[in-house]
Amino acid sequence: MSAAERVAGADGAPLLELDDVQAYYGLAHILQGITLTVRAGELVALLGRNGAGKTTTVKSIMGLVAVRGGRIRCAGRDVVGHATENIAQFGIGYVPEDRRMFPGLTVRENFRLAALGSRAPKGEQQAAQRRALEVFPLLEKHLDRDASRLSGGQQQMVAVGRALIGGTKLLLVDEVTQGLAPNIAHDMGRTLRRVADEGHGVLLVEQNAQMALEVADRVYVVDQGVIVHSGDAEQLRADPAWMAEHLQL
Ligand SMILES: Nc1ncnc2c1ncn2[C@@H]1O[C@H](COP(=O)(O)OP(=O)(O)OP(=O)(O)O)[C@@H](O)[C@H]1O
Ligand SMILES: [Mg+2]
Repeated sequence: MSAAERVAGADGAPLLELDDVQAYYGLAHILQGITLTVRAGELVALLGRNGAGKTTTVKSIMGLVAVRGGRIRCAGRDVVGHATENIAQFGIGYVPEDRRMFPGLTVRENFRLAALGSRAPKGEQQAAQRRALEVFPLLEKHLDRDASRLSGGQQQMVAVGRALIGGTKLLLVDEVTQGLAPNIAHDMGRTLRRVADEGHGVLLVEQNAQMALEVADRVYVVDQGVIVHSGDAEQLRADPAWMAEHLQL
């Protein structure tokens, strides 16, 4: 069995399917029909300008905004209406826009909390923590440091490492490279590519379209709460006119 098959939905369903999702903040109709898919082994980029609806899309998957139409399925299960903590238990790891380190907790404690939250048996929790260090070996030497005092790039490693702990099949990553130096941002992109190659699905929300296009398999562009374009990243990389039109490069 390939790594991708190991983490695919039980019936081979995509890890994530959004179909015509409509979401609101109060009376404001923000998402007006988002349709997208992420399969095991795929890194899919969600791009779009400020205020386009990227974070709202990710929050709607996590049950953090009110979805009032359409369908969201994770590994074939409907998630709309479930509480956020239950949705996380469906194998979704979420790295929110503002990487929040619990102040005063070491890197090790951050990972331990994530493992505890996953409700896995103890032996598996330790394996899960080792897994985070396999993905980010640089954190090994910082395990006993206060995570909130690490560099921005290291904090993002902790945030992504934490999200990978606990049976995560699908990783939702919101603006993980914001504020990072270009080489650190590209390193993070390549690491997420490896995570996808090992069989996870990754939905990468990015302002850094160039980095996202380099590592993504497929790309969706959202504008005013609607997917206005989708395509194969390799084809789009070779199309400067498209990039200029859609990504302001
Ligand atoms: N809590 C909120 N209450 C009301 N409106 C909101 C709220 N959060 C976001 N919005 C509005 O929803 C729209 C989409 O916002 P969203 O945060 O999804 O954009 P984004 O694509 O993630 O942008 P950015 O690149 O700036 O992170 C914007 O018009 C924004 O002003
Ligand atoms: Mg956002």
